[in-house]
Amino acid sequence: MCGIVAAVAQRNVQGILLEGLKRLEYRGYDSSGMTVLNNGSLTRHRALGKVAALAEQLDNAPLPGMSGIAHTRWATHGKPSEANAHPHHSSDQVAVVHNGIIENYEHIKQALQANGYTFTSETDTEVIAHLLADKLNSGLGLFEATQEVVSGLGGAYALGVMSVVEPGVVVGARQGSPLVVGVGIDEAFLASDPLALLQVTDRFIYLEEGDLVEIREQGAIQIVDRDGHQVERPVHTFEHGDGAASKGEYRHYMLKEIFEQPEVISAALEGRLSTNSVLVESFGPEAQVLFQNTRQIHIIACGTSYHAGLVARYWLERYAGVPVQVEVASEYRYRHPVVPDGTLFVTLSQSGETADTLAALRFAKTLHYVGTLAICNVPGSSLVRESDMSLMTHAGPEIGVASTKAFTTQLVALMLLTLSVSKAKGQPERAEIVAALQSLPALCKQVLGLAGQIETLSQAFAEKHHALFLGRGAHYPIALEGALKLKEISYIHAEAYPAGELKHGPLALVDSEMPVISVAPNDDLLEKLKSNLQEVRARGGQLFVFADQAVGINDQDGIRVMKLPHVHEALAPLLYTLPLQLLSYYVAVLKGTDVDQPRNLAKSVTVE
Ligand code: G6P
Repeated sequence: MCGIVAAVAQRNVQGILLEGLKRLEYRGYDSSGMTVLNNGSLTRHRALGKVAALAEQLDNAPLPGMSGIAHTRWATHGKPSEANAHPHHSSDQVAVVHNGIIENYEHIKQALQANGYTFTSETDTEVIAHLLADKLNSGLGLFEATQEVVSGLGGAYALGVMSVVEPGVVVGARQGSPLVVGVGIDEAFLASDPLALLQVTDRFIYLEEGDLVEIREQGAIQIVDRDGHQVERPVHTFEHGDGAASKGEYRHYMLKEIFEQPEVISAALEGRLSTNSVLVESFGPEAQVLFQNTRQIHIIACGTSYHAGLVARYWLERYAGVPVQVEVASEYRYRHPVVPDGTLFVTLSQSGETADTLAALRFAKTLHYVGTLAICNVPGSSLVRESDMSLMTHAGPEIGVASTKAFTTQLVALMLLTLSVSKAKGQPERAEIVAALQSLPALCKQVLGLAGQIETLSQAFAEKHHALFLGRGAHYPIALEGALKLKEISYIHAEAYPAGELKHGPLALVDSEMPVISVAPNDDLLEKLKSNLQEVRARGGQLFVFADQAVGINDQDGIRVMKLPHVHEALAPLLYTLPLQLLSYYVAVLKGTDVDQPRNLAKSVTVE
């Protein structure tokens, strides 16, 4: 979604805002803009396309000033264009940046037009600028004006606003979209994500829903809650160093994040296992009793996180004996779900801010679940704060829009959940899975060693328009995830099927032009999978098989085999994800697409 950054400092803020925008570009990158207060006037640049285009404008005509707001956009209302890019101004008196959607903007716009306000964009945001100007003209200060304006807004927003009437002040508001306050020394900042500000501070205040904040010269910060009461919110120190937000020696963030997996999987396991067993308390002091009383589980998520949930269903049913339903959040939130007694509600999210997942959690809290658990990568995110329990995945910042290390660490967390529920219910310890988890980082390293071979393999895909992914059991969701990665970043149309379904339709698509990718670990479905692969071979399909080195599938005419080290059956879905990530990556690089910021997508989807 869109990204916001704002600063009030004793120094020129242009560089801080621009660096913030670069770091927020993963949220949206169709246009960007910046407004800075200079000698009592609002000065602005806006540019279509990536932040680099704005940087070029700033090179040619700098915007010096000690307070400012900036924005990187992911279009919702109005096409990507310079006129629709933020900040939006009202008669050069007020400037606004906004992330989210104002649902009642049309009605407000008509009223403002009737009062003589002229609109220069197609966005919902511009109404906020004019409403603020209206309030300021009636004599209110910027904070009070913002307070009055937001009380009439429907929908979701994070805002940053400034005005010539109060130089050295930026006001922010949060309702349904994330906003953090960066606490500096004699300076203060706002941003959609702490990453945007790591170059200037590691201390953050996570605003609550309905909060309004004013940041002023000398770093003064004042927060008022939704009821208008002044409140103190805790200041958190950001855990991950700033290095996590840079590409280092890698060509793309995605490649860096793929190669970080051994390390972050270790981090996700750290302190959560004893020699033979999982530590149930990792999920919190109340987890033992709650898991003991859990009779079923509903897992809700979006995108890649949803695929992690699908894998967990196989694990939780097989190893913990608990029935599981998994559903995408955008469907769940508008259904009338039946919640049997003793059901635990689990959300999975990298960001913890995905609008549909958050809405699903809020809806679930009105139903009679025994508890809510968030498995998330961002401490302090909305999902974490609003759930009864949480488990952090410790993947570190993930910048590439296509999720990689966030997915595999979610799988680790979900295996920890499986073992914890099983243990709390008094089932036999699964020491062999615990041992396998401990050896997983080393196995991942071995698989990453196949990168060169996978790069060579990727050449077979560069000219393709379609691809089919097959898997069985817990590897069906891995096939889904492999197909999603390929379409997200290489724009090749890819579909995934449970291999047993091939004969019920997709086989009609198979001919000598259709690449079919299959994951074949050494599990009890291997023989069945081999028969499915024969069905493809018999139709002349080109097979690419990622197989356990012991399964005896070898390169032959029409079959290319990539051999993976042996892994415990339970953890094979984790390991087999890696070569599929690499395959998508190298295909995208060959095709020359924008790997880290694929067209039309955003990393953090904070609107519905
Ligand atoms: C977007 C991202 C995906 C992600 C999904 C869910 O679509 O591009 O990579 O899987 O949102 O995000 P979450 O932060 O809730 O895991």
